[in-house]
Amino acid sequence: MSKATETLQDTPDGIARAAELLRAGQLVAFPSETVYGLGADARRPDAVAAIFAAKGRPSTNPLIVHVRDLEAATRIVDLPADGHALAQAFWPGALTLVARARPDAGLAPAVQAGHPTVAVRVPAHPVLQALLRAADLPLAGPSANRSGRVSPTSAEHVLDELSGRIAAVLDAGPCPVGVESTIVAVEETTRLLRPGGLPLSAIEACLGRPITAHVPTTDSPSAPGQFASHYAPEARLHMNVTDPSEADAFLGFGPGADATLNLSPSGDLAEAASNLFDFLRKLDAAGHATIGVAPIPETGLGLAINDRLRRAAAPRPG
Ligand code: TXA
Ligand code: MG
Repeated sequence: MSKATETLQDTPDGIARAAELLRAGQLVAFPSETVYGLGADARRPDAVAAIFAAKGRPSTNPLIVHVRDLEAATRIVDLPADGHALAQAFWPGALTLVARARPDAGLAPAVQAGHPTVAVRVPAHPVLQALLRAADLPLAGPSANRSGRVSPTSAEHVLDELSGRIAAVLDAGPCPVGVESTIVAVEETTRLLRPGGLPLSAIEACLGRPITAHVPTTDSPSAPGQFASHYAPEARLHMNVTDPSEADAFLGFGPGADATLNLSPSGDLAEAASNLFDFLRKLDAAGHATIGVAPIPETGLGLAINDRLRRAAAPRPG
């Protein structure tokens, strides 16, 4: 029998309860500025195993560890010069750095899924910062969706897929950014593994040079979890649709009257990112067989939006 999932408010009491559950090895979904995460104590093998079980996540796909600040991060990973520069510039924020794990990092092995590296992030969301301080532990946290589905940007989205499978969700309302963090590997070379909420242009401006952006394929995902088909809604998705009659539902961007839903009538990419996953879920729930999506410019947050749309549109295995 599954137990009922508690919904906790983003009050001092709610945050304290979430911290208590995490310290007891339970699963708690948490808000962040990007998307909701599914949290557990990253040091406890049982708690980390429970994340994989609740999500139905392959054990080959490693987890991001959330910590309160750069100092806590450097207890887990060795950051080379580029890593330090990026951390100083963009933490706390929507940036995840993949770097070599310290031998004394103290993480449950499943977090790294066999890799010598760990993905670490210092988030900016004030409720998550308060939770990290109250729980006082490194927080393993993939996005709080069933594996392969669209990431959640509200507590309701989390409950839709994980109710009864997790102890609690800490509800702080919708996530302001709406797409996952940008992932950069800082190892021998510095590489973009996943475009996300922090624009690539900001990263390149900080480093003073372009970095390689490896476009993943089914055969060679740039991050272990970056398979071509991911973020899948039930509906078939078509990108760059300019004639809305091609599809049952039309997800618009920019001015134009005939959209079923419009990601941003004014053509603002930040607004579009914050609406993306919610609108995909809404159109899916309405039972449309196909969703056409207007062209999204490939600049700024448009890189992350188009990346998620390409995965949602990709042919699915099975
Ligand atoms: O915004 C976000 O990043 C959210 C919030 C909750 O922090 N988290 C998130 O986690 O999107 P997840 O697990 O859904 O995506 C993390 C990605 C996966 O594709 C995983 O394969 C990759 O990061 N990753 C984790 N550890 C890695 C590592 N050591 N090397 C390469 N990729 C790694
Ligand atoms: Mg995910």
